[in-house]
Amino acid sequence: MLSIVVLISGTGSNLKALLEACDNPLYPAKVLAVGADRAAEGLEHAELFDKTTFVVQPESFDSKDEWAKVLASNIDIHQPDLIVLAGFMRVLPKSFVDRYYPRIINLHPSLLPKFPGAHAVRDALAAGADETGSTIHIVDAGVDTGPIIAQQSMAIAPGIGEHELHEQIKKIEKQQLVKTIESIANGEIKLEEIAA
Ligand code: GAR
Repeated sequence: MLSIVVLISGTGSNLKALLEACDNPLYPAKVLAVGADRAAEGLEHAELFDKTTFVVQPESFDSKDEWAKVLASNIDIHQPDLIVLAGFMRVLPKSFVDRYYPRIINLHPSLLPKFPGAHAVRDALAAGADETGSTIHIVDAGVDTGPIIAQQSMAIAPGIGEHELHEQIKKIEKQQLVKTIESIANGEIKLEEIAA
């Protein structure tokens, strides 16, 4: 059984999809705890599934490294096999990434390396792209630059708005997240090999 700590910043719809998948006794992963960098709305999903939650806000610390150290100690209590960033909107410092690499994965709403950063959906629309998609990658010290694990593309409908397009991408992301974690858990995807 692959054990996971999930980090979020927002509504947590991907977290919810993972929690629902983990509710099936045949699914080979379990969520141990959910953390956030603020009082994120999505923490409600964790509470409904009786998961431990923690919030570690960067604003409470003098440096990013100090923040990340306390974040790490909250994670290490649970000794997870994997850390999943599901809409976690902070760049983690190198000290944190080095501690866990390659056992942190991130979900991103574009076909990386296209449109990295916090506004991937808006940036794809502004660039006039006719396709986008979702990516799951191993987190390294860059911004959305780590080795890619899975990608799925989709067409962008002409005239579609940012919110609607993001909702369409999230539909793909949820399936991709649940499937990718299943494949990591059963050994079909080996993070060490992808990272090498
Ligand atoms: C997801 O689309 C995820 O890919 C994105 O935030 C959304 C979170 O949605 N992450 C990033 O943009 C990271 N750069 P959710 O809170 O409803 O799961």
